Amino acid sequence: MTLLRIAILISGRGSNMGALIGSAQREGYGEIALVLSNRPDAAGLEFAARHAIEALALDHKAHVSREAFDAAVDEALRKRRIDIVALAGFMRILGAGFVARWQGRLVNIHPSLLPLFPGIHVHEQALAAGVKQSGATVHFVVPELDAGPIIGQASVPVLTGDTPATLAARILLAEHKLYPVCLKMLCEGRVRLDGGRAVFAHGGPIAIPPESP
Ligand code: GRF
Repeated sequence: MTLLRIAILISGRGSNMGALIGSAQREGYGEIALVLSNRPDAAGLEFAARHAIEALALDHKAHVSREAFDAAVDEALRKRRIDIVALAGFMRILGAGFVARWQGRLVNIHPSLLPLFPGIHVHEQALAAGVKQSGATVHFVVPELDAGPIIGQASVPVLTGDTPATLAARILLAEHKLYPVCLKMLCEGRVRLDGGRAVFAHGGPIAIPPESP
């Protein structure tokens, strides 16, 4: 059986990338064939290279337009026969053309319980709203930011005295559990994008509850 070839797109430290690499290696649901960063200084690139995974920097600043950057990313993915693209802290918005080309094969993780708090300053938004729970969402990517059909969510409590940093750290741990489960589900064909909706072979989206204290 040939394994699905997965690319992970990052911009920074790549802790979710690390979780995906570990789980794919342990569980064999796919091969992480490429880690691509739009920032040449992303710490995650080094980690990938150390794990014998091709680490490619494509600096967005070296491209004349958003379209040119998207085209370069697309070419890099096609050249390596990538099947599935996982965004993991990738801080560039991909254009509608790119998203359409990879539709159903392009997923993202966002550190809130979408549709609450899309975009940036996510934890500040959550604290300002006074929610008692926040979490993370893995979803198919659609042209609208942080709005695609949900594959899975993990919840964490918001505690008295939380700062954006403490809340982010708690959510990050939940992200590391959620993303591998969702990526595995996609690779095994147990969820697909159909007519703009996530269709599940059995049941519905993954729901990881808060850890009991
Ligand atoms: C994560 O919180 C992810 O949800 C968001 O960016 C952060 C990336 O962290 N999109 P890391 O690079 O995976 O450590």
